[in-house]
Amino acid sequence: MATVNMQKEVVRKELERLDSESRTADELMKGITLLLNQQMLNYNWVGFYMLEAGTEPPVLVLGHYQGAMTPHVRIPLNEGICGAAASTGETVVVDDVNSDPRYLSCSLETKSEIVVPVFVRGQVAGELDIDSHFPAAFGADDRALVEYCAQLVSKRLENE
Ligand code: SME
Repeated sequence: MATVNMQKEVVRKELERLDSESRTADELMKGITLLLNQQMLNYNWVGFYMLEAGTEPPVLVLGHYQGAMTPHVRIPLNEGICGAAASTGETVVVDDVNSDPRYLSCSLETKSEIVVPVFVRGQVAGELDIDSHFPAAFGADDRALVEYCAQLVSKRLENE
């Protein structure tokens, strides 16, 4: 696993560079989706969903993403693993999406998923969603890496 951990260290450094070079939160989010999808072999779909301002009941809207097109461009908070993460404000890791009744299918190839909320001043503003073609692809260090990405975006959004 040493090689995999080294890869995560390299990606962390790349994320720091991306953060310092991005002029806006939007640019940073786009860069994160590209970087994670290209550098992390198991991260087969990487995208942001953001809460639409002023919509009641609240809806998550697909933003920047890399990977196959998804039918789920708008997700209410009571649907999907995405809705679960946004409504609880907690990271959700699903090792086997086909055994989770909340799962909204995006691709038949997807086997596992992680969704990490993005906060702005303590409130959920959106989330970073990653799907893998491999079962149980997201361990503790993946969770730490994806939460780090979400924190970078949070800081940017708080300063805009
Ligand atoms: N699987 C997600 C829907 C989004 S797609 O994965 C891109 C869910 O269950 O909420």
